[in-house]
Amino acid sequence: MTISSKKQRVLSGMRPTGRLHLGHYHGVLKNWLHLQNDHDCYFCIVDWHALTTHYETVQAINVHVWEVLIDWLAAGLDANKAHIFIQSQVPETAELHLLLSMLTPLGWLERMPTYKEQREKLTDRDLSTYGFLGYPLLQAADILIVKAGVVPVGEDQVVHIELAREIARRFNHLYGKDENFNTIIQQALARLEPKQAEQYSKLRKRYLEKGEPEALQKAQTLLKYQTQLTTVEFEYLEGYLEGKGRIILPEPQALLTEAAKLPGLDGQKMSKSYGNTIMLREAPESVTHKIRTMPTDPARIRRTDPGEPEKCPVWDLHKVYSKPDVKEWVQKGCRSAGIGCLECKQPVIDAINQELQPIRERAQYYEQNPALLQDIVAAGAEAVRTEAKKTMAEVRQVVGINYRGKVD
Ligand code: TRP
Ligand code: SF4
Repeated sequence: MTISSKKQRVLSGMRPTGRLHLGHYHGVLKNWLHLQNDHDCYFCIVDWHALTTHYETVQAINVHVWEVLIDWLAAGLDANKAHIFIQSQVPETAELHLLLSMLTPLGWLERMPTYKEQREKLTDRDLSTYGFLGYPLLQAADILIVKAGVVPVGEDQVVHIELAREIARRFNHLYGKDENFNTIIQQALARLEPKQAEQYSKLRKRYLEKGEPEALQKAQTLLKYQTQLTTVEFEYLEGYLEGKGRIILPEPQALLTEAAKLPGLDGQKMSKSYGNTIMLREAPESVTHKIRTMPTDPARIRRTDPGEPEKCPVWDLHKVYSKPDVKEWVQKGCRSAGIGCLECKQPVIDAINQELQPIRERAQYYEQNPALLQDIVAAGAEAVRTEAKKTMAEVRQVVGINYRGKVD
């Protein structure tokens, strides 16, 4: 795979909770499909995270992992464009998680709103475990092991990305300053073209003295193009730019995914737990049946009663699927009782079935080729491990346990 190092690195993960529905498609996957075209993308099925809540019922995880993978590929994620992998197949992440745990204050984890909420919500199991408390730290390790710059997530996950930033900052603060700092900076600067070095110093000064964010950005870009620098020299110059030590683990940025665009069959958010979903592999007859039986404006009891689209969940689907002329037809026809509800639903049924057709076909192809799935994640894990090993070599070195060098 030829992925240019200039592209921004993106990582995101999904828990293996079983087959995916249209809510996942419109809320998450379509966004990933765009990203994979012009970013260096890493998409991870986080089976260890599943264990943090399902350690008593582990049988399903193995099944769910493959279901998620099939749905990802069916939706159009492409292993030739993105690294697609299973979390547990990159063991370096567990090592990073362990080392980061040494410097993670308990309070940072205990304060996570997701920690409190989930423990209160999932009362059917005991979540007073070490692993569950560490859930967000494991997520930080997922991100930091490949030094991802951007993490597309929903609103509820922003606190976890913020934690990852704080952990990275703490790590760099503890281990990014050493007695050779000035020597290495001078040495690295000497390896730049004199003009570039001068430009770097000017921009650095402008940022540190005048706080111009633009100067920082320009200098960061300048650095990225200095391919003659070693990774370590790059990290020193990157940190020096901001008046800090070496940046070993860069702080990731959350890329907020817009709130669910697609409502469920009852108008609430589409979610497995509400039983209001249309699955990506739903058969056409089943889609038709589900939409035909979905509720409409409760005031429209008889065909002759006029209705109000704003009070009808079918209208929410039209907003996503229909062109302006169809929407106009719905608005007028509903309010004047000119069209019936089944008539109104037909364009939505057609649009969804049309959208799902290629997805179903691709899913079927992968269902019939399980060996191919194995190959895809094996190749994904191998590529990710190449990056992960580089990160761990640096991390081990700065925390003083780099003697295991030759052991794989
Ligand atoms: N916690 C995320 C969720 O529940 C899943 C996840 C695990 C993740 N590791 C990640 C998301 C790393 C982004 C990056 O949705
Ligand atoms: Fe809903 Fe359409 Fe029926 Fe109006 S006509 S109530 S928008 S299904």
